[in-house]
Amino acid sequence: MTTPSRSGVFDVATDDRVVKFTESVSFDRRLYAYDIEGSIAHAQMLAKTGLISADDCQKIVQSLQEIRHEIEQGNFIFAIENEDIHMAIEAALIDRLGDVGRKLHTARSRNDQVSTDLRMWTRDATANIDAKLHSLQCAFLERTDQDADIIVPAYTHLQRAQPVLAAHYWLAYIEKFQRDRERLESLKQRLNVLPLGTGAVAGTSLPIDREVVRQHLGFDQIACNSLDASSDRDFVLDFSYALAVIAEHLSGWAEEWIVWSTNEFGYLSLPREFCTCSSMMPQKINPDVLELIRGKTSRVIGNLTSLLMLVKGLPLAYNRDLQEDKPPLFDSFDTVGACLDLAIPIVVQSQWNADNVRAKLEGGYLDATTLMEYMIKLGIPQRTAHHAVGQLVGKAMEQQLPLRKLPLQDMQNICAELDQNVYQILGAENALKTFCSLGSTSPDEVAKQIATWRGRLDGTT
Ligand code: ARG
Repeated sequence: MTTPSRSGVFDVATDDRVVKFTESVSFDRRLYAYDIEGSIAHAQMLAKTGLISADDCQKIVQSLQEIRHEIEQGNFIFAIENEDIHMAIEAALIDRLGDVGRKLHTARSRNDQVSTDLRMWTRDATANIDAKLHSLQCAFLERTDQDADIIVPAYTHLQRAQPVLAAHYWLAYIEKFQRDRERLESLKQRLNVLPLGTGAVAGTSLPIDREVVRQHLGFDQIACNSLDASSDRDFVLDFSYALAVIAEHLSGWAEEWIVWSTNEFGYLSLPREFCTCSSMMPQKINPDVLELIRGKTSRVIGNLTSLLMLVKGLPLAYNRDLQEDKPPLFDSFDTVGACLDLAIPIVVQSQWNADNVRAKLEGGYLDATTLMEYMIKLGIPQRTAHHAVGQLVGKAMEQQLPLRKLPLQDMQNICAELDQNVYQILGAENALKTFCSLGSTSPDEVAKQIATWRGRLDGTT
C-alpha cells in the first residue's frame, strides 16, 4: 500500500492500531468531489505560476478526473492505510503518474486542503437545505389556499386563546422557516473564504497565486492569516447551529401535530402512508414519523454541542482534533435533510377534521378578548373592561353558554354600556373580522401576507 505522507524521518511502519485509530477515510470520503475539484484548481495554479509544467498539469488533471470517475463507479478502493480522502486520492494519482503525481502537493498541506474541501461541501449542503426549506414553505403556502375558510383556535400555554385563520397559522411557519433560510444565507459570508494556499500553518515560500484558485473555486474572499485559516471551523459551528434551529422548529411543529392528531384533540388526520402501526394493538395509527422528527432534534443539538466542545480550548493552529468535526456535521445535515423530506409531504397531505375544530371554537370563550377590546372602544378603561369580561365569562359558564348566547340583560347587568350591537363581534368568525393590526389574523391582513409570500417564494419580489 502506498503511504505518500510517511516521511523519511520514520524508520518503522505505523502501528496497526494507530492506522485504525487515526483514519478518517471511512467518513471523509464523502468529500471526494470537492477534494478533486480543489486539487484541479491547485494544479492549474501551479502550472500558471511555473511551479509545474503545463504538460504535468494536464496529466494530473486528467488522472484526477479518471479517479473521480472510478470513485463514482464504485470501483475505487478506500484503504485505511491511506488515512484520509486527501491521501487516498493523492496515492491513486501517484500510482498512475509516479513522480508527476508526487508534484501535486507542492505548496499545499492537508491542513489548508481539508478546510477548503469542507467549506466547498458546506456550501453545497447549505444550498441543499435551503432548497428543502423553500419547498416546505411552498407546501405551507399551498395550504393557505386550500384551507381558506378554516378557523382554528390559537393557543397560549396550550390553552385555547383566540381564533385565527388556518392560513394565519400556516403563515407563522413560513416566517419561522424564512428565518432559518436567512440564517443559512448570512453564514455564507464567513463560509465562502478560501483557506487553500495558507499551507500547514505559516504559508509558503513558493510563488503561488491564491487569486487564481479563488476564482477557479468560486470563493468570495481569500483567508488572510495562515494561522487562523487552517484552524478556523467557525463555518462548521455556524452551519450546525443553523441546522439545530431548523430542527428545533421542526420539532415544535411535530409536537403540535402529534397533539392535534390525537383522538383527544382530533384536529388533524395525518396521511396514513406516513403513520405506523403497533405490533400488539391493531387499532393503533401512530405518528412515529413526527415523533422521530422531534426525537432526532436531540441528535442535531448533540452534534452542535459536540462541535462546540471539540474546538473549545484548541491552541492555534491545526490540531488533529479537528478531524472529528466531520461526523457530527454530516450527521446533522443528513438528519435535518431527512426530516425536511418527510415534513413536506405530511404538510401537503394532512387534513383538518373541520367538525372537531369547529366544536372547539364554540367552547373556550375565544371571543372574550375581542369583547374586552369592544368595550375599550366604547370608552371603558382596559382594566375595567378586562374585569367585566371575566365576570361575563363566569356568568356564561354558569349557564353553559357561549358569550354570543348570553342574554343582553345579563350583559348589561355587568356592563351597562353594552347594547344589541355587541352580538356582531361575538363568535369566532365575527371576532376574527374585528382584528385589524398589522400582522394580525384579520382576513385582510392575512390576504396581504399571502400575496407577499406568493411573490417572495416565487422569487418575484
Ligand atoms: N484528515 C485530517 C482532518 O480531517 C486532515 C489531515 C491533517 N493531518 C495532519 N496530520 N496535519 O482534519
